[in-house]
Amino acid sequence: MTEPLHTAGILLQGKKIYKIGPYNDLKETASALGAVFTILEQPFVCLPGFIDAHTHICFAGSRASDYALRNEGKSYLEIAASGGGIWDTVTQTRSTSLEDLAALTTSRAERHLREGVTTIEVKSGYGLSVAEELKMLRAIKRTASEARADILSTCLAAHTLPKDFRGNRQEYLRDLQENLFPVLLQEQLCSRVDAFIEKEAFSADEIRPYFRQAKQQGFDLTVHADQFSTGGSALAVELEAVSADHLEASTDKEIKLLAASNTVAVALPGASVGLGCAFAPARKLLDQGASLAIASDWNPGSAPMGDLLTLASVLGVFEKLSAAEVFAGITFRAARALGLHDRGKLAPGFLADFVLFPVYDYREILYHQGKLKPAAVWKRGRPVL
Ligand code: NIG
Ligand code: FE
Repeated sequence: MTEPLHTAGILLQGKKIYKIGPYNDLKETASALGAVFTILEQPFVCLPGFIDAHTHICFAGSRASDYALRNEGKSYLEIAASGGGIWDTVTQTRSTSLEDLAALTTSRAERHLREGVTTIEVKSGYGLSVAEELKMLRAIKRTASEARADILSTCLAAHTLPKDFRGNRQEYLRDLQENLFPVLLQEQLCSRVDAFIEKEAFSADEIRPYFRQAKQQGFDLTVHADQFSTGGSALAVELEAVSADHLEASTDKEIKLLAASNTVAVALPGASVGLGCAFAPARKLLDQGASLAIASDWNPGSAPMGDLLTLASVLGVFEKLSAAEVFAGITFRAARALGLHDRGKLAPGFLADFVLFPVYDYREILYHQGKLKPAAVWKRGRPVL
């Protein structure tokens, strides 16, 4: 085999990157360690495995009819009143068994892996009762043991007040605190708690005590914030949430608050493209000094596409983000949004999760707006594609 002349190398040890640099510099160390050499003959650009910090891929059914109705001019409320919206997915998810739900989630996780996403956050939130939220989180746990990507689960039982709950929003949240949180801890079903702070869902004041208890019990907090109206991001900053996600409605005030905090701002272009709404002010957030991650929000309602690279490149076009800012948003800043410090970079000691694109120039990747897929994906030091 002819030896490449001007190439880079990654030296792996087990699941991690041991060393990275020009091939010729690594060759001796690799030989001394008795390493197995995999020489790639064609040119490739190597990037860290992508990290999707916000998805709802555990669901059953389709909301194609909602999508069509929205594009015919029906409002979200009209659609909900005629049996669509989140409640439609709740109904379909509730009538699906844990096993079938896990199979659906695993197949979506596998699709993500083929597109280069090696770590995936998955939320509950279509169960909306203690028992049904537990079923979802147990299904996600099963996916975590089956899927080749790493799965990180989040409890989003505070997604909206379920139509069949006998009581008000505070009573529902108290029910979750008393009857759901202890089981989450006992069965180690998730390490993160999310809530949808919005007019039709929960107010910041309703969520504050719920979040305080979650935090006290050791959960990381993350918020569906400022999607249509503000209030969520201020609570995220106040309670030092790891991330505040959506932010389409954030104004200069919220941008400043986020920029001065350690809370990662997560833009969800999939929801903008899915609903035909404005994008989160990603450029302004970065200019003010916020840390910006980009996630797919893959869900059956507002963000059915779920292609992280396509969505990140589209956000880059509309918000004028450099390639570095886009790639940072789906790699190491996404890792930070999940509180993970062992991935998202090609550097010694980091997990050997990486993707190879069959191009000479890294700029080709975003230029193709997601149409160019990785030719190879490595997860924890092993090729999985
Ligand atoms: O992130 N905004 C709230 N929740 C989801 C949408 C859920 C749905 O419509 O099924 C989101 O966009
Ligand atoms: Fe979401």
